[in-house]
Amino acid sequence: MLKLEKLDKTFQPGTANAHHALRDLSLTLEDGEFVTVIGSNGAGKSTLLGAVSGAFFVDSGHILLDGRDLTYVPGHKRARDIARIFQDPMRGTAPDLTLEENVALAYARAGRGLFAPALGKKRSAVFRQELARLDMGLEDRMRTRIGLLSGGQRQAVTLLMATINVPRVLLLDEHTAALDPVAAQRVLDLTKEIVEKNRITTLMVTHNIATALTMGTRTIMLEGGRIVLDLSGEQREKLDVPGLLALYRETVGAELANDRMLLTRDAPEKTEK
Ligand SMILES: Nc1ncnc2c1ncn2[C@@H]1O[C@H](COP(=O)(O)OP(=O)(O)OP(=O)(O)O)[C@@H](O)[C@H]1O
Ligand SMILES: [Mg+2]
Repeated sequence: MLKLEKLDKTFQPGTANAHHALRDLSLTLEDGEFVTVIGSNGAGKSTLLGAVSGAFFVDSGHILLDGRDLTYVPGHKRARDIARIFQDPMRGTAPDLTLEENVALAYARAGRGLFAPALGKKRSAVFRQELARLDMGLEDRMRTRIGLLSGGQRQAVTLLMATINVPRVLLLDEHTAALDPVAAQRVLDLTKEIVEKNRITTLMVTHNIATALTMGTRTIMLEGGRIVLDLSGEQREKLDVPGLLALYRETVGAELANDRMLLTRDAPEKTEK
């Protein structure tokens, strides 16, 4: 269980640029729960993921994973339990290394391979099979530099690599936003499959509300560093995109809602409110 208790974070406190990015935010995720996160630009979504991954320490509050207090555990020590994937497909892999080398690196990072080079071939074969299932022609490109693959291919590889050593928690920060619709759907399908098969507790940020409502079993909306909506069960099942936007306006007020762009990067064609 991932438990966030009253997280508070102000960036650059005491300066003119001070920004109160998380306000008293509490959230509990059951094991294997898959939660989508929406909210306008600057609402605090990435900050929430950064707090959980340990990109920085919160000013107050507590982060507990299975009862263990991670609040002041540095990010690199959380990495074994908590994987984070970003929007930029270049961020999760080493572009100058081949696909094969990246995979070896992922195994080494997962702590399974540093001293067992003989197992490399077998692992490579297993990974090749996984790649083949993606139907992106990647299995025949194990010797290709990652930097030469398309964004969608790289994100799919990043996702496979991040879950080689099944993390307790998976944090996805608009990981399909930079992809074309077909690649985005493939990576979303893969996400769903990996998360469900391994029952990984997941937070997935998206600007695409339709995606937010169809992936996972619960959707939270952030605004001003707070959770303003927490939807699950029947209430969520009954909601469609216009319904959720109406609920958003109701919750934050029409004036603020008009001021915000909820749907941006993933679905620019759907920005009508
Ligand atoms: N390291 C930082 N230093 C200063 N301010 C920051 C820092 N990181 C985030 N912020 C500020 O905190 C606020 C929340 O940012 P955050 O990146 O969490 O938003 P977001 O919900 O992910 O938005 P987007 O949809 O644009 O990705 C923003 O106003 C941002 O400028
Ligand atoms: Mg963000």
